[in-house]
Amino acid sequence: MNPEFHVNFPAEAETTRVLGVHRQSGGQHPALAPEVSAALLRHGPDASSGRTMPLILQGPERTENILLADLDGLPDCSPRSCRRFGGMLADALRGHSSVLFRTEDVFPGERPDDCALLHILAGYCSRQYSFDRYRAPEKACPPQRMFVEDAGSERLAALWLRQGRIVEASHRVRQMVSEPPNVLYPESMAAMALQLRDLGLVVDVLDERELRRLGMGALLGVGQGSDRPPRLVLLRWQGHSDPAAPPVAVAGKGITFDSGGLSLKTRPNMRGMKHDMAGAAVVLELLRCAAETRLPINVAGILALAENMPSGKALRPDDIIRTLSGRHVEIVSADAEGRMVLCDALSYAVTRLAPSCLIDIATLTGAMSTALGWQKAGLFSNDDRLAEALFEAGEETDERLWRMPMDEDYDTLLKTGDADLENATFGQNARSIFAAKFLEQFVDNTPWAHIDIAGTAWSDADTPMSRRGATGFGLQLLYRFLEKHAPA
Ligand code: BES
Ligand code: MN
Ligand code: ZN
Repeated sequence: MNPEFHVNFPAEAETTRVLGVHRQSGGQHPALAPEVSAALLRHGPDASSGRTMPLILQGPERTENILLADLDGLPDCSPRSCRRFGGMLADALRGHSSVLFRTEDVFPGERPDDCALLHILAGYCSRQYSFDRYRAPEKACPPQRMFVEDAGSERLAALWLRQGRIVEASHRVRQMVSEPPNVLYPESMAAMALQLRDLGLVVDVLDERELRRLGMGALLGVGQGSDRPPRLVLLRWQGHSDPAAPPVAVAGKGITFDSGGLSLKTRPNMRGMKHDMAGAAVVLELLRCAAETRLPINVAGILALAENMPSGKALRPDDIIRTLSGRHVEIVSADAEGRMVLCDALSYAVTRLAPSCLIDIATLTGAMSTALGWQKAGLFSNDDRLAEALFEAGEETDERLWRMPMDEDYDTLLKTGDADLENATFGQNARSIFAAKFLEQFVDNTPWAHIDIAGTAWSDADTPMSRRGATGFGLQLLYRFLEKHAPA
């Protein structure tokens, strides 16, 4: 995870050098004799069977471990291509003991800019993560020891200080999301947030008594079926020179296990629902990054934490609860709990924090993966500029968003039965949009965006940037947004 930066790295036999070649232009490389290149082209795998090839070169003086990387796998120097290229290298280097990225080796003749190199490293490190706290680690992991040789190594090392923290934070998100629900539950997650006080963050944890006093009936309702009580965590980073400057507020759905409550999920649908707190994990680590990198803005984070369980105390379908906003919600499905905990978090943000903008991130609807798969997350917003900025940030970090509609044509989705609002419908149509419309009722005129990561927070298969499991989706994108686009 911690690359070492050198101007001159002494050659070591165990260290694998990465050589970039263009297969299409003959596979030449200044470090390879022409006949070696020619033989490789003849015998190597064709482009369709992989973009890399490990080699052991036996010279008269020493043996060299080499990885040939086909630069056709890096079509341009966009952050996305660079990250994916880095991820591919990590995968190809499994089992090697250490790796040397010498800029002149990887890019003979055409040095890419610093950012491209950093993105390659970030992609490499992202692909490295695996959750093996409760099992024997994988046998062949990508090399932990990484060396970078570049004439501008000092500059790169300085830039990596920030980038490396973000990558580490994204690993921590993945760790939290992967932790089982018997280990990670509202109180234990709140305890993790409290540790961030050491970094200069203001952290407050509201327990049931305080939640009741405030009137957060929706969050309390969702949590009341569980033996593990709900919590609301408030985190504040005051980086702006004016402490009263309106913060960017970010709220995360933190359902540490979603059984569906009395609207119990089916057996296959319940499996994996430990990851229903991925939004809250992103917010927690986002605030850590803001503090660690001393972002010059004010940021407020809200974690809406609860466990959704069936029991004699659980919320029933037909119950009507009073939300923090004062509006009443009739429970149609106890499994539509995410919008419940979030509506109180959003009301809290709007009325008590007066934010410049408000973003929520949540594994909200299964329909989101039906619509966009694991490749993109849904973006819903009442503000074009905010939506545009978030979209841009996602393109840069390869956490891609797609804007979904929520215009007044969809107002008909919002039904009033015996209360101001119903929390769900039994219809199958536009479920993700319905959930977004529901949330929109609680943000008044605040510029607001909702990111539905139900399809992207967890992956059942390896993706270019991560292995099966938690992806950490959203952290890097939101950090990028704060760093670049947030109103100062
Ligand atoms: N946490 C789920 C959404 C989810 C499903 C996330 C699959 C990740 C993977 C959410 O609380 C939920 O149960 N949503 C329901 C809403 C319905 C009851 C209106 C859904 O999507 O089916
Ligand atoms: Mn649910
Ligand atoms: Zn849920």
